[in-house]
Amino acid sequence: MSWIKVGHESDLAVGEMKQISMEEEDLALYHIEEGFFATSDVCTHAAQSLSQGTLQGAVVACPRHGGKFDVRTGQPTAFPCVIPIATYPVEIRDGEIWIDYDE
Ligand code: FES
Repeated sequence: MSWIKVGHESDLAVGEMKQISMEEEDLALYHIEEGFFATSDVCTHAAQSLSQGTLQGAVVACPRHGGKFDVRTGQPTAFPCVIPIATYPVEIRDGEIWIDYDE
């Protein structure tokens, strides 16, 4: 378990997402009505970057084949995605965004 500062909460408006590059893989950070959430940025269907897709509410749509995931749980919500994406705890500390990322 290791908490990593990845930005400031003012960096992302509600409805926006962005890629966070880590050494081993890329993560995606989302700001939705319920707060900030983080997942792997790699679609489990064919390794597409999810942060290049679209975010509607709590659901990110993959730009390659249109599969979808709930960013709060990582669970797939639309075919062809059937394998969940990894999720990571997010905390806001004095306006800074921290992700608990285990490499
Ligand atoms: S690569 Fe994401 S749905 Fe196919």
